[in-house]
Amino acid sequence: MDKILIHGGNTLKGSVKVSGAKNAALPTIAACLLSGGTHRLKNIPDLRDIRTIKEIMEKLGVVFHGEGASLDVNSDNLTSFEAPYEQVKTMRASILLLGPLLARYGKAKISLPGGCAIGARPVNLHLKALTAMGADMFLDHGYINASADRLRGANITFDIPTVTGTENIMMAAVTAEGTTVLKNAAREPEILDLADMLRGMGADIEGDGTDRIVIHGVNDLKPARHSVISDRIETGTFMIAAAITGGEIKIEGCRPEYLKALIEKLESAGARVEVTNDFVLVKGPDMLESVDIMTRPYPGFPTDLQAQFMTLMCVADGWSMIRETVFENRFIHVSELKRMGADIEINGNQALVKGTKALLSAPVMATDLRASASLILAALVAKGGPTEVHRIYHLDRGYENLEEKFKHLGATIWREKA
Ligand code: EPZ
Repeated sequence: MDKILIHGGNTLKGSVKVSGAKNAALPTIAACLLSGGTHRLKNIPDLRDIRTIKEIMEKLGVVFHGEGASLDVNSDNLTSFEAPYEQVKTMRASILLLGPLLARYGKAKISLPGGCAIGARPVNLHLKALTAMGADMFLDHGYINASADRLRGANITFDIPTVTGTENIMMAAVTAEGTTVLKNAAREPEILDLADMLRGMGADIEGDGTDRIVIHGVNDLKPARHSVISDRIETGTFMIAAAITGGEIKIEGCRPEYLKALIEKLESAGARVEVTNDFVLVKGPDMLESVDIMTRPYPGFPTDLQAQFMTLMCVADGWSMIRETVFENRFIHVSELKRMGADIEINGNQALVKGTKALLSAPVMATDLRASASLILAALVAKGGPTEVHRIYHLDRGYENLEEKFKHLGATIWREKA
């Protein structure tokens, strides 16, 4: 198991290019189950989660060919419809295979994703919606068993705007009989990206990006030619790195229009943010101001940047209130930040952060993907010897070559076997 070591205190400067988005690539790869032929995908990041979904799909009989960030996918000869517990337990997003398998093959057996560090994360809304579309579902020995002759369009209102739920139903509905109307749908940019890919395959979808999506089922789809959007959470992580180190970073190949909520908060904290169509330049202030945030579904402040922004507030001047409203248990990074000298009080889904002059280096442990990024950011400014961040397999799930990219920006960072 690897660990990352960081000598804090360097001001980060330079430019960095962000990778394709994990949370766009996962549904895009799953959607390749929806039609035969060879799908050509671009800007696919090299991440552990991408390798996991490929492993599961290879077990189904899908064939992958890939060079760098390009990936060809062929699902002509499926031999199985089962996503096994061993893989699903490592990545909840495997649930994204359910909609496409049901839509194309009328059957699927997917291990029910268990809870995860940041919350219970049930998939009841996915199952309820697919049942409304005519799927027969039963749970057996920890597996979702689903079947349907042909899914049919339905009027579905989500109790909560679920991201992968919206993606699963969009994929299930594109070849369903009739029209599906999805209300209180999620509006994340990754959903627009998936809708663009599906339209490129011949699907008839309107309203993606709003809370009401209408999908008219079609009979045939053709193979995709799609390049996934860049990763707005990776972009946000580098923007916060510039602010926390008082540095100046140009982040290239990103989509700043998807980060308005973060840009607004960084400017309130005193950072200077320059935005163009495909890059954002962030200049950190000499003294950070404390700012309150509340996570919300898109276009609100992303929960996937909450931990990183909390680290920023740990070294800001004054008190800041951080409210987490999307997941019920997403403050696990707090105890590790406190080991580095942070002053944080938790009360339910609120964390009161008292900014401190300096964080101190310490051995810390990553507990989930975004928590690991928050600890790396803390280590970039920590005083004293190197900080050791353990269990970084969490980080490798969702960040491509992060330490190389930080090294290129001037950080003293390296990876070692733990
Ligand atoms: C997606 O997860 C992302 N993952 C998450 O990113 C992200 O944190 C989350 O959306 C919110 O933005 C992927 O896209 C692969 P939800 P998802 O369904 O779809 C409740 C990262 O770090 N809910 O929108 O699983 C749920 O418990 C990851 O990259 C139900 O109750 O999240 C949560 O409280 C972490 N029943 C809320 O809705 C359901 O059936 C939002 O969850 C579905 C969801």
